[in-house]
Amino acid sequence: MKVLVVGGGGREHAIIKKIKENKNITELYALPGNGGIEADAKCVSIGAKDINGIVNFAKENKIDYAVVAPDDPLVLGCVDALEEIGVPCFGPNKKAAIIEGSKVFSKNLMKKYGIPTAEYEVFNSAEVALEYLKTAPIPTVIKADGLALGKGVVIAMTREEAYDAVRSIMGDKKFGDSGNNIVIEEFLTGPEVSVLAFTDGKCVKPMVSSMDHKRALDFDKGLNTGGMGTVAPNPYYTNDIADECMKTIFLPTVNAMNAEGREFKGCLYFGLMLTPNGPKVIEYNCRFGDPETQVVLPLLESDLFEIMKSVTNQTLENCDVKFADKNACCVIMASKGYPEKYENGFEIVIPEEINDTVYVAGAKKADGKLLSAGGRVLGVTDVNNTLEKAIEGAYAKVKKIKFDNAFYRSDIGQKALKATEAK
Ligand code: AMP
Ligand code: GLY
Repeated sequence: MKVLVVGGGGREHAIIKKIKENKNITELYALPGNGGIEADAKCVSIGAKDINGIVNFAKENKIDYAVVAPDDPLVLGCVDALEEIGVPCFGPNKKAAIIEGSKVFSKNLMKKYGIPTAEYEVFNSAEVALEYLKTAPIPTVIKADGLALGKGVVIAMTREEAYDAVRSIMGDKKFGDSGNNIVIEEFLTGPEVSVLAFTDGKCVKPMVSSMDHKRALDFDKGLNTGGMGTVAPNPYYTNDIADECMKTIFLPTVNAMNAEGREFKGCLYFGLMLTPNGPKVIEYNCRFGDPETQVVLPLLESDLFEIMKSVTNQTLENCDVKFADKNACCVIMASKGYPEKYENGFEIVIPEEINDTVYVAGAKKADGKLLSAGGRVLGVTDVNNTLEKAIEGAYAKVKKIKFDNAFYRSDIGQKALKATEAK
């Protein structure tokens, strides 16, 4: 079978390494992929948002199946366009991807169907939002409605910060049209958990839970990033909490999407906060998380490609989704300066013996050398019998990699380790 994967980051590298285990795949393409993914798939320089380019490539190369991994092409309708020419896909169609594409949509969905989330108000005028903020409880949370590269959320600790956020999102249009509408919501507290789940619109099979580390610096200091590391499973997410989430969040969400005529097929990502009043949804994503995928998929024992096809064919109920009873830790090696200014072009050398679970996010090949080309450059994962060993293993691998401009957190997994020890 000829399979193509849309996207070119660490998440896509993890997906590609995993689906390659299926021997029915004879040709595997990444659009656009990257200099590291080249070792595992044929990379073709067609951008992930170039829907026409992707469709033409699929037609010309008689692609049998496509995996659309990033949010942008999903929200733009890449799955609809591929299905129109007869290519079955893993990923939601445009109507369903709105669950990530519009925060106003997802908040209204949760309210309508009684799915626990933070209290909120929606605004389409900066003036009215600023007026509301004069008396709103502080801290408060301000979210741009549309996609904003994970940066459209401001946690305002003071009223002044809240005013500034509204002015920059709605007034200065910091995120373009994504900020035409905003959500202002209640500030929640509690441990955060990421749960990715396969769903075919009929049943839901959650994957092993994970914990992201969003801030740039140790001890959750510094700016928000796309994610500086992950561990799986997340020790805060007990079996009882998992049962509760299935009943109050996962199934109700899938049913709500069906009731709205927006059947969701693919990977639905639940960003949860375990508040003193029970688990609540912080955000939905319509795709695998990054870098959650880099710890979740290495623990998957079942055949990823078979699962994906069963999601497409709506036979997930009968498909095995089994995870190893082990732990994984992924440390992101970023470029110095990320998430702000950074330089590219530094050579990266990954020793062969650790190559298996090193995922390349931002690098290109030039004259046979791998050179850094992005903020987040590598995801270095270790799978081990305990969390402590997985953390040690991931950092031991980091030390073996040559990449002079590397910057990484040194405390990935420490919070989880403390939670494990407290049990
Ligand atoms: P989001 O892009 O919606 O996941 O938000 C990014 C991060 O902001 C989340 O991972 C949380 O750490 C934080 N956050 C979002 N919404 C809230 C909220 N209502 N209360 C507290 N923190 C929040
Ligand atoms: N790691 C968070 C995300 O993928 O959105």
